[in-house]
Parts: sequence; C-alpha cells; structure tokens
Amino acid sequence: MGSRYRQLADEIAQHIERGVYAAGDRLPSVRALARSRGVSVVTVVTAYQTLLDEGRIEARPRSGFYVRAQRPIQPIEAESGASAAPPRPVTGQAMAMTLIKAANTSGIVQLGAAVPDPSFLPTQAIGRAMAQVMRTRRAQAAGYMMPPGAPELRRQIARRMSENGASVAADDIVVTTGCQEALSLALRAVTRPGDVVAVESPAFYGLLHVLESLGLEALEIPARPRDGPALDALAFALERWPVRACVLAPNYGNPLGYCMPDEIKRALIRLLGRHRVPLIEDDVYGDLGFGVPRPSTCKGLAPRADILYCSSFSKTLSPGLRVGWIAAGRHHARVEYLKYVTSIASPTAPQLAVADLLAGGRYERHLREIRGKYASAVARMSDRVMEVFPEGTRISQPQGGFVLWVELPEGTDSVALARRALRQGVSVAPGPLFSASGKYGNFIRLSCARVWDAQLDRALLTLAKLL
Ligand SMILES: Cc1ncc(COP(=O)(O)O)c(C=O)c1O
Repeated sequence: MGSRYRQLADEIAQHIERGVYAAGDRLPSVRALARSRGVSVVTVVTAYQTLLDEGRIEARPRSGFYVRAQRPIQPIEAESGASAAPPRPVTGQAMAMTLIKAANTSGIVQLGAAVPDPSFLPTQAIGRAMAQVMRTRRAQAAGYMMPPGAPELRRQIARRMSENGASVAADDIVVTTGCQEALSLALRAVTRPGDVVAVESPAFYGLLHVLESLGLEALEIPARPRDGPALDALAFALERWPVRACVLAPNYGNPLGYCMPDEIKRALIRLLGRHRVPLIEDDVYGDLGFGVPRPSTCKGLAPRADILYCSSFSKTLSPGLRVGWIAAGRHHARVEYLKYVTSIASPTAPQLAVADLLAGGRYERHLREIRGKYASAVARMSDRVMEVFPEGTRISQPQGGFVLWVELPEGTDSVALARRALRQGVSVAPGPLFSASGKYGNFIRLSCARVWDAQLDRALLTLAKLL
C-alpha cells in the first residue's frame, strides 16, 4: 500500500502544480476518489494526510480537503556568466567550526549542518544490528579490520553498486570513515599540495575544508540549480588552468540538490577524459532521490573512465556509524595505503553491523520509507520559507537529499544572520561557507531533515524576524 498512496499523493500534487486544481478548490471526497481510482479509502486518506503534512492542502471541518493558497515558489536562477574565476586557495571557513559544534549543542534548532534528525534514521535496527555483532562476533569486533575493510561489507556494497548499474567487485572497494574521508583519500591519491582542483559552486563546505587542509586551490565552476555545473565553463577552465582533479556530486549535490541528466554526465566524463583529469564522484545523496528510479552514477556510465567514486551511509542509516567507502579504480592501491597511513582502519563493529543491515534487506526497506519523508520535509520547508521569508526570497527545488539553498533578498548578510540566529537558538549555514571565494553572501542553506513541529516553525519565524 505504501507506494500506492505516495503515487496518488504525487499525482494530486502534480495536478495542483499544473493548475488542474487551483488554490481554494475543493478536492474530490475520499470516497469518490477511492471509487474512481479503484483504491481503498485508507489509501486515499493516507495520500491526503501526506499532502496535508507537506502543506499543499488543508482540511476544512465537515467540508473536505482544499488546495492551500501558497505564495508561488521563486526558484533560484543560474549564476550569470559561464566563465570560471581563476583558481584560489580556500579561505574564510572559520565560521564552519561554530556551525559544526552547534550540531551537537542541545537546545539549538539545528538547521545548519546537513545531519538528519535521529527520527529519520533506523536507530532501532542499527541498535539491534550492533548488539548482534557484539554478541556473536565480539572477538572479531575487538580487533582491527585492516584496509580494505570488512569483506562482507565490501561484498554487500559491491552488490548494491552493481544492481544500480556500476559493476564493481568487493576487491575494488576500500571502506572509509565516512564519505569525508573517502573524498580526502581520493584527493590525496591524485593531487599534490598547490595543485588546482575543479569544484562545483556552490560546493559542500566539507570538501572545501579538505582542499584547504591539503593546500589545494579551488577552481569554482558555477552550477546550475537544475542540472549542475555548466560544462562550457568547465571546458574553458580545463583549457586555461592545470586542473589535476574535478570533484562533483552529480546526484542531488549539496547544497543545490540537482540531478545531472545522463547525457550531461556522459558529456562530463568525455570532457574530463580528453583532458586526462580524474573525476572524484561524491554520491553520498544518490540513494535519496524523490523520484524513481535511482539515478545512474558516472562510475556506472563509464566503467573504464578515471573515476574515484565516494559514498557513505551517513545520510541514510546514520552519520554516527561513520561507514563510508571509495571505489578508486586505478588508484585503488594508493588509496588503500593512504587509508592505512591515516587511521590504520575504520571501526570494526559498525562495518559488520552495516553489512548485516544490507544483507537482511533492512537498508532497502528504510530507503523506501525515507525518500518520501525527505521529499515531504523539503516540500513543507519550501512552502513555509516562501510564506514567512521576505519578498525577494528564492529557493532551490531539490530533486533529492534534504537540504534547501535559499537566496535572501539582495544586501542580506547571511554570516551576520547566522550569528544572530545562533544567539537565538537556531543554526543555519551561511552561503559564503559554500564558496572558496566568499561568494553567496546573501544565501543560506537549511537542512530539512527534521520532524515538523512547533519548535521548527518558531525557528523559521525567528529567522524571518531577523531578516
Ligand atoms: C556532499 C557531501 N559529501 C560528503 C559528506 C560527508 O559525509 P560523511 O558524514 O559520510 O563523512 C557530506 C556531509 O554533509 C556531504 O553533504
């Protein structure tokens, strides 16, 4: 039944978007819709409840369900100018540590770091899996699990990747401590300090920190909100600068949430191939699309290309497990060595527990539940932001993941806003963190992976007031 109600909710939402039902229109009664669609009353009620949760419709007592009047979403527009600015060292990231610490401070409404609220994570199943490991494989869990990492976990990851179109074997994978370590190992494997690395702009700030810590220069390629980095800008940059690697998150990149269509992925791979530049593909949000099927990966589209694929279970199962991986292709041996040099090994018990969750099908079941929840959370946050933030606010329209990129009216100082908001118990990520050159001064990123409650609504109203 789960997918049927979601399908029905999506259909109604589409009708609303296309204007079949306008604001204020009454939707068909539950019984009439159940009869006409040949579904149960429970399916219709659940679909309507989903749309209520997403803020698309409202219930009027003894009257029925109506389309809610909404301020239309103003989408973010692509940056003007296709040319990339020169490479530069990453600076001005000190604010990030304040934000990162806020993630663990109780009493703060945490909209800053892209960390799912525990209510979005299968914490009970993880608890059971960890307990089972400690009960049945205590001695093994007490020891190092040397690189490349637990064979059973690598087998499960390889199986999933292959089912998703990237034919990878267990021996091609190195287990890492999250996707962050995978990105760091990938960059260390293919660059030296002082090298130039092409990144999308805006980019995930953790990546910019890695560049900064490795003494690498960032070449920012403007990303379009719907399909990612402009390839003409990238082509221009590759002609002009000695780029040593390109790091992108083609599936639901953070913070824009776009999904790069296959033909653009293919063109990207060809372009980088011509210039012999390795692609570091960050697919940490790849399983969290709002639609089906799961999008392809560059690794899957071009098995022989020079691609270092990085991912983790941080956005799906739990960031605290710190289980990630890298399939580095021809750089496998170097990455394996660097992994050992960095931390000897990743913790053993979480690797075994995640292997069990994958093998038992729990991971897939959780994904099926969570995608709809994230889609609802993003839709609801989008509507509320458009409702309460000032005129001139624009937002991204993510196709997956759970973050929203918000452009505030011109002249807003998002760093000052973030500081003042933190003093009032709300954390947001200010735009300049997502750029090596301090761009996006009037942008913020909001994490939507929270259950909607009065506290969250108050937090948005606090931000609106500060604006
Ligand atoms: C795009 C992107 N890549 C990588 C990471 C790091 O993931 P992990 O927590 O697995 O290290 C994040 C976390 O926010 C992210 O948003």
